[in-house]
Amino acid sequence: MDTQPSIIVTGASSGIGAYCARALKEEGWRVFATARKPADIAALEAAGIEAFYLDYREPDSIAALVEAVLARTGGRLDALYNNGAHAQPGAVEDLPVDALRQQFEANVFGWHDLTRRIVPVMRRQGHGRIVNCSSILGLTPVKWRGAYVASKHALEGLMLCLRAELDGSGIHVSLIEPGPIESRIAPNGLDWFLANIDHEKSVHRQAYEAQLARMRGGGSKSRLKLKPDAVHRVLRHALLSRRPRPHYVVTVPAKVGVILKRILPASLLYRILASQA
Ligand SMILES: NC(=O)c1ccc[n+]([C@@H]2O[C@H](COP(=O)([O-])OP(=O)(O)OC[C@H]3O[C@@H](n4cnc5c(N)ncnc54)[C@H](OP(=O)(O)O)[C@@H]3O)[C@@H](O)[C@H]2O)c1
Repeated sequence: MDTQPSIIVTGASSGIGAYCARALKEEGWRVFATARKPADIAALEAAGIEAFYLDYREPDSIAALVEAVLARTGGRLDALYNNGAHAQPGAVEDLPVDALRQQFEANVFGWHDLTRRIVPVMRRQGHGRIVNCSSILGLTPVKWRGAYVASKHALEGLMLCLRAELDGSGIHVSLIEPGPIESRIAPNGLDWFLANIDHEKSVHRQAYEAQLARMRGGGSKSRLKLKPDAVHRVLRHALLSRRPRPHYVVTVPAKVGVILKRILPASLLYRILASQA
């Protein structure tokens, strides 16, 4: 790496991305962080971070980001942290196709687009780290979250194939799989729910009451919910370790989920998961 390593961090307006962008900057990284609202871009700049507009659903914004960053670094980039995403709640049978499409545009296709623009840069320089914030819901299904679960499962498959294809190139690909982390993901999800799910006409309308209360209250109240620094800790390992891991599972509930998936028959695992949400 150069003396000052460089990284793109997406979705840095709140939650995990906001924390990680600032923490990496403190640790000496040259951070190129992205957000969507002018006020969020200004807040990042006020923290001394080079900030850019990026919406993963807009290919032009991805191209513009890559061009601007590479112009500043002289065509180099040490690391990419794909993080920006939204979570579309709602039962699969209530989910309009376009809502599922939006979910994949934001959480999968945009990540793919940005990543494949950065891979040639890393190949030229002979090294790089690509870290993706997946979720425990990329490994296990939970009801009412079909769109988000599907997007994170797709991401797992895509990035694990990329990882295998980059073997020996000096470019390492990792996935972070958090369980509950303090952020704005639930309140942001409320907007997506209200925009796309006709909950009052749904056969699931009673179950949605609990979902609505959870989202309006800022997400799950689990005592096992961690702050974004827990993700930053494993992100550092994925960025700096000589042997970055393919998977970083964060929080006790996520670790329990992975263990249960390994040891339980599928039907029993799915019954337990279905009783949770
Ligand atoms: N919090 C958890 O419990 C949890 C658990 C597992 C995985 N994750 C993952 O962690 C990552 C960060 O989420 P978070 O929990 O920190 O939630 P958050 O506070 O809602 O932050 C999400 C970030 O992504 C940005 N974003 C949303 N849609 C985008 C798009 N189309 N293009 C570019 N950026 C977009 C948001 O920008 P705006 O402010 O402009 O909307 C925001 O900066 C996500 O990949 C999420 O799936 C979170």
